[in-house]
Amino acid sequence: MHPFTRPTYPSAAPLQPKRHVMNDEQLLMLSPDVAGLEKAAAILARGGLVSFPTETVYGLGADARDDKAVASIYAAKGRPSFNPLIVHLSDVAAVADYCEMNDTARQLADAFWPGALTLVLPLRAVAGISKLVTAGLDTLAVRVPDHRVAGGLLQAFGGPIAAPSANPSGRISPTSAAHVAAGLGAGIDAIVDGGDCSVGVESTIVSCIGAPALLRAGGIPVEALEACLGQPLVQGQDTDLPTAPGQLASHYAPQGKVRLNAAYAEEGEVLLGFGPVDAALNLSVAGDLIEAAARLFACLHELDAMGAARIAVSPIPDRGLGRAINDRLRRAAAPR
Ligand code: TXA
Ligand code: MG
Repeated sequence: MHPFTRPTYPSAAPLQPKRHVMNDEQLLMLSPDVAGLEKAAAILARGGLVSFPTETVYGLGADARDDKAVASIYAAKGRPSFNPLIVHLSDVAAVADYCEMNDTARQLADAFWPGALTLVLPLRAVAGISKLVTAGLDTLAVRVPDHRVAGGLLQAFGGPIAAPSANPSGRISPTSAAHVAAGLGAGIDAIVDGGDCSVGVESTIVSCIGAPALLRAGGIPVEALEACLGQPLVQGQDTDLPTAPGQLASHYAPQGKVRLNAAYAEEGEVLLGFGPVDAALNLSVAGDLIEAAARLFACLHELDAMGAARIAVSPIPDRGLGRAINDRLRRAAAPR
């Protein structure tokens, strides 16, 4: 049996459950076919919230031009501040309607879109994107997802979809419809169930404002981006990074206390392994970083479901997708 298909995890309940649905109907589970996508698009067009799968993680989508709909994303996630959101578009031509694209942006877009790369670009004055999406910035984070269901929804909706990861603020990102239902179910209108996400960590974020800068390690390895550009990326200020150390804990955190670079589990710890180690759960017995990224959040959800109070994690090599995995694990392990 697949371990992550259970409908609810008691431990993954929203921190502050809120109901921000358009009506009192129950959460709709939609199938990823034409009928389901049309229904989902209609809900978005009415200002509702729809969670949908991408290749990275499940997103919580709203019409990016609708202030009220975007505000309800923040409410449903219990997100304390207006951190800017990523806008999803169906193709590069649509991106150019909303953003200025310089040579670097075009080069990266050609090479990696559709895909797990988000570009921060100058927002065009006429774009019509809600200021709540950009948190008032004059730049926009955009991405063309590489997923049949996300692409189908973007086509059916025919507009920009703002979507952060579909988890309660500060909790583990969702890589299945069951994760979304457990975390946000009461506060959103619908979930399009497209199965498990293949990449499993969020997109890599690169700013193309000035010299290209890495803002967040993610699903496209930094090495691949630098090879494409023929130059190293500036190590940019990660927009998720805290201004005070305590804020680190607000991301990707399981319930249990996390200890990194653990050779073995101490008494009372559950080992999240990597490679050929004797572990309760293993990200990849074969030591494959792609498999480990795909399983990371599902394993953290599973550790919550097991009630693991202390979690030890094997060392993960800091290359390729290992950089994104280590970034998420460092946040999970940060003092709370
Ligand atoms: O893979 C992903 O990127 C997923 C899926 C759903 O597409 N989405 C996602 O969104 O991870 P979210 O909201 O969890 O992360 C958005 C990140 C935040 O760190 C935010 O600060 C940054 O993007 N961001 C958004 N707009 C920005 C901007 N204009 N300038 C700099 N950073 C920005
Ligand atoms: Mg997130």
